[in-house]
This record gives sequence, structure tokens and C-alpha cells, in this order.
Amino acid sequence: MSAGASHSRLLIKGGKIVNADRTFEADIYIENGIIQQIGKGLMIPGGAQEYDATGKLVMPGGIDTHTHMQLPFMGHRAVDDFYTGTKAAIAGGTTMILDFVLDQKNVSLIEAYNKWRGWADPKVCCDYSFHVGVTWWSEQVKEEMATLVKEHGVNSFKMFMAYKDVFMLPDHDLYEVYKQCRNIGAIAQMHAENGDVIAHEQKRMLELGITGPEGHELCRPEDVEAEAVLRAIMISNRVNCPMYIVHVMSKSSAKVIARARREGKVVFGEPIAACLGTDGTHYWHKCWRHAAGHVMGPPLRPDTTTPGYLMDLLANGDLECTGTDNCTFSGNQKALGKDDFTKIPNGVNGVEDRMSVIWEKGVASGKMDENRFVAVTSTNAAKIFNLYPRKGVIAVGSDADIVVWDPEATRTISAKTHHQAVDFNIFEGMVCHGVTLCTISRGKIVYQDGKFNVSAGDGKFIPRKPYAPYVYKKIDCRQKTHDPVKVEREPYTGPVATLPDENGVPKTPDTPRSRNLHHATSIGAGGQHVNLANDSTHPSTRVMAPPGGRSTFSLF
Ligand code: URP
Ligand code: ZN
Ligand code: ZN
Repeated sequence: MSAGASHSRLLIKGGKIVNADRTFEADIYIENGIIQQIGKGLMIPGGAQEYDATGKLVMPGGIDTHTHMQLPFMGHRAVDDFYTGTKAAIAGGTTMILDFVLDQKNVSLIEAYNKWRGWADPKVCCDYSFHVGVTWWSEQVKEEMATLVKEHGVNSFKMFMAYKDVFMLPDHDLYEVYKQCRNIGAIAQMHAENGDVIAHEQKRMLELGITGPEGHELCRPEDVEAEAVLRAIMISNRVNCPMYIVHVMSKSSAKVIARARREGKVVFGEPIAACLGTDGTHYWHKCWRHAAGHVMGPPLRPDTTTPGYLMDLLANGDLECTGTDNCTFSGNQKALGKDDFTKIPNGVNGVEDRMSVIWEKGVASGKMDENRFVAVTSTNAAKIFNLYPRKGVIAVGSDADIVVWDPEATRTISAKTHHQAVDFNIFEGMVCHGVTLCTISRGKIVYQDGKFNVSAGDGKFIPRKPYAPYVYKKIDCRQKTHDPVKVEREPYTGPVATLPDENGVPKTPDTPRSRNLHHATSIGAGGQHVNLANDSTHPSTRVMAPPGGRSTFSLF
């Protein structure tokens, strides 16, 4: 690096640029945070700082689609805040996080958004943006969702089918939220687990005397997640709303998503570092603190083939992008649930280690190449959340968010050496190929060879516009072509059944009862023809298949 170099001019020399579509050797010249030139033998102004990346990979900085810095949750506050969390992100090669505004029911979404901005803006060390949680439903919420999209740079909303009485929404509210998401060009995100079943099962486990962390998994097995994923996709598909399933934790739910995508539905699945890098056998660990350190919802799965399977789907395109759900609680905070697993605050680490874990389990294992790695750690997230091509690619005009990566070097993950505030690491002892040598955030070297050069508040809030083309080109087209069409027919003039009064007597005495009732039908829910005569010699229902098959929005 040349002495006295200007921080607003940076030349990255000699590296191999890895984008989602190709790898090539070139230098990168950056001015005022934006990539100005890419090529060999560039003509650049004097006085630029130089970084020698010879023999190394130069990739778009990671985008973590799912974090919860300093989240107030289950009576506690997550220990990694917007400062330690984003610093740790940078150390791991991530240059942008998408965090969540997530407040209680009945709190104004705009007030919550402003509160979270107030927490994040002075602390963030890398760029960030917000998804907003919709934890209740009303006309006010509907309007505030539109305002957040129009005036506050939000284009994604997370809803919960779990955490009964806290964040959970019933299906009829979800239907309305999805409709509103589609109307305002946003993407609906779903925490998919059946909250009613979990509430019953928690009680049952405690009654059985199962109070330890294994109870957390036992009361929410794979089906509890997969059923909710199927339901979320079914409902959103009815109203042509794009669906993004957050933290896909099981093979069962990943299969539901893969099938829906094959059927042409607009649905995206986000596995996280935790489920790609470790598994739920830890809940049965004899050390309570160790077991509790892995508690998150949906849980990690005891099926040890899960991480490899999810990585396969990430490699082949069934799953699209990755986050971490980084939501860290200290061992002592977790210990508040020492006698009752339902009181263990849910959440694990990942923001620092996501890139290394995916490189190790995905690229070093031969499941994906370096280009797919960039797609699933950065580019696809940028496309889905409408940040592309500002973020997620090394291209002229893009923000200079870059990681210089050594694919051969290794590091051993440990809570003793990580930069997060939390005192536990779910990847403890994992040896990973793929090490961040240097992280560049909007043109500034913020991390190099283990040292930080960044201050709280250096990161920026990045507003996102609605109608992300990657998502909405298909949705908009379907809106025009997929609406059901009524059948044109002459008005019906035949006999009509008479409904009996409260005593079961037909209201009009002279009705030719037997004839009319045996042939009377009415349209019931779901397009069924319901025979009103309760006559066992006639089938009471028959399903009418519309000519030309079922609607394309149909799930089955
Ligand atoms: O256990 C988790 N996932 N904690 C964070 C909240 C959420 O559901 O994403
Ligand atoms: Zn969640
Ligand atoms: Zn989360």
C-alpha cells in the first residue's frame, strides 16, 4: 500500500475477479466508493492507494439476508448489537446485512422502523437495510406498509406462523398481508412453523418431564415446519404474492420449496449458515450450556444428512440465497431457561462465519464452484431485494463492496477468537478453507490482515425500491394472465330448493318437496356442488373440475 494514499481512490491489482457469471483476471479502480474501471493496464489518476491481490480471489462482498442485531426477544436483548455485529460481518467478508425491524403487536410499524433506525445508524460499520416484521393486522398496518415502501426504502415484510400470542398471525390475516405485499410491490417473508401445534407440544414435553434443550426440537419436528411452508406458499400463491421462506432448516421444508418452484410458483428459500454447517444432534449433548447454545427456531435437525442436503439444493438452484439469522444470546441469558426449554432465548451466531462455512461445505467439498458461491452469498440476495447491480456484483458503476479471499488458507472457528460479542460459537472447532484477507466497504479498506479500520456509523442505510424485477416481472405478468375467468351462461330458471324453517318444515308448504330437494344444488366453498337434500341415496357432494383443468395457481 503506498504511503499517504487517498482513501477515496483505490486500485486492487492482480486479483481474479469472481462474479456470479464468470471469473476473470483484471484490476479494479475505485473512486469515491464506486467502481470506475475494470481491466488490465488501467490508466488511473495518481495518488491512489493500491492493494495487491495477486493470486487471490476478488469477490462481491457478502450480503447476509437475515440478522437480528440487539433484538429485544423473549425478555432479553441479543448481545451482538449493530456495532459488534457489523464489525464481525466485515471480518468474515460480509459488506451488507439485512436486519429486521420487529416490534410487538399493536405498535405502529413506522414508529418501530424509526426506533430501529435510531439504534442502527450510529453503530453500523457496514451498509445495511431493513425488512419489517408485520406482527399484527389492521387498516393502520396496511397503510403503514405502503408508507414504508413509498417513503422509507422497505420492500420486504416478515410474518410469523409461530410464536403464538407474540408474533404469530392467523391464516386470514396472512392472506390480507400477502395481498397488500403484492399491491405495493413488496416480497412476503415467512417464518414457517405451526405455532398452534408447537404451543400444545411444548406443554406435552414439559408434562413428560422433558425440560432440557432436546425438548425444543422434539416439540417442533420437521413436519411442523414443512406443513407451514406448504401453507404459506399455498396462501401467497392464491393472491399472486412472491413468497420468501426465511431460515429453511429441514430437508422436508426444502423439498416443499423445490417442488413449488418446479410447479412455477414464485418462491425463494433461504437456508442459513447454521443449518448448512451444523446439526441438531447438539440438543442431546450432555452439557446443558452447549445444547442450549444451539437453540433457535425452527430448530437445527437431528438428521445429520440435513446440512449436506440443503447445500446440494443451494448448489443446484432450488434454494437461492443465504443468511444467518444471527441473533445471539450469551450462555447466562440462555441459562434463564435451565429448568424449562421454552424459556431459552432462541437464536445463534453466524454473521461472521457464513462465508467460510459455505466455502468449506459448498466449494471446498466440490458441490459448487466459486461463481455459484458468489451467487448464493451475494448476487441473488441483491437481485431478490432489489439492490442489484448497486450491490452483489463487481461492475463499473457498482458500490465497491469487495472481499479479497484466500481460497487455500484455513482458519479454525472459535468463540475465543471471533469478533462477535457472544461467548459461544455453534461452529466451534470447524476448520474452514476460505479466509478473508481484506474487506472493502464502499471503496474503503475496513479490514485487512486481521485489523479493522472502521468506526461506528461508517455504514449507511441503503433504501430499496419495490417491484424488484427479478421477482416482479413474473408476478406482474401472472397478474394479467392468470386471473380466473367466469363462465358465461344463461340465467338459471329451473327449480330451487326451499330452506326449512327452524323446525325443519319447508317454508312454502306447496313446494313439491321430494322432487326439488333431490335435485337442488348450491355452490359451496371451494367450488363444490353441495346437494341440499340430506338423502343418503344421493352423494352429498361432488367436486366440479373446471374445463381446461384447475387454475395455474393451484398447489396440487
Ligand atoms: O431463533 C430465532 N430464529 N431467533 C430469531 C427470531 C426469528 O425467528 O428469526
Ligand atoms: Zn424467524
Ligand atoms: Zn430471524
